[in-house]
Amino acid sequence: MSRLTILFIKSSLIYFAIAVLVGLDITFMPGHLGSMMPVHAHLMLLGWITMMIYGVAYHILPRFSASPLYSDKIANVQFYVAHIGLIGMAVSFAMRSYVDAGGMLLIVFSIIEAISIILFVFNMLMTLPKAPK
Ligand code: HEM
Ligand code: HEM
Repeated sequence: MSRLTILFIKSSLIYFAIAVLVGLDITFMPGHLGSMMPVHAHLMLLGWITMMIYGVAYHILPRFSASPLYSDKIANVQFYVAHIGLIGMAVSFAMRSYVDAGGMLLIVFSIIEAISIILFVFNMLMTLPKAPK
C-alpha cells in the first residue's frame, strides 16, 4: 500500500469517528439539527465514504488497469485539497447559523472541495484504459 492510500484510509476512519460523534450530538441536542446535520452528513459522505474510496481507488484502479497512476503529483495535491475543502466546509456549515461570514466561507471551501473531486476524476480518467470494443 502506498503512503497516500494509507493516509486516505486512516483519515477516512478518523472522519467516521468524528461524524458519529456529531450524529450523536444531533440525536441528543435537537436544537443543533440545522447547523450540525450538514456537518454530520458531509463528514460521513465526503469524509468516511469518499476518502475511503479515494484510498482504495488509488491502490486498486492502476492495478486493475495494469498501468501506473497518470500523476502521483496530482494525487498528492488532491489529498491536501480534499482535506482543506472538507474541514473548511464542516467548520463553515457549523458557523453559518451563528456568523454571517460562515456563508461566504462555505462557498470558498465548497469550491476547494469541488476542485479536489475534479482532480481525482481527471487523474483516474487518464489512468483507466479505453474500454475494449
Ligand atoms: C451512530 C451513527 C449515526 C448517528 C447517531 C446518526 C445520527 C443522525 C441524525 C440524528 C440525523 C438527523 C436526522 C433528522 O433528524 O433528519 C442524521 C442525518 C444524516 N445522517 Fe446520520 N447518523 C449515524 C450514522 C450515519 C452514517 C453511517 C451515515 C452515512 C454513511 C449517515 C448519514 C447521514 C446523512 C446523509 C444524514 C442527512 C439525511 C437527510 O438529509 O435527511 N449517518 N444522522
Ligand atoms: C464539493 C462537494 C459538495 C458540496 C459543496 C456540497 C454542498 C451541500 C450543501 C450546501 C448542502 C445543503 C446543506 C444545508 O443547507 O443544510 C448539501 C446537502 C447535502 N449533501 Fe452535499 N455537497 C457536496 C458533496 C456531497 C456529496 C459527495 C454527497 C454524497 C455522497 C452529498 C450529500 C448531501 C446530502 C445527503 C445533503 C442533505 C443533507 C443535509 O441537508 O445536511 N454532498 N450539500
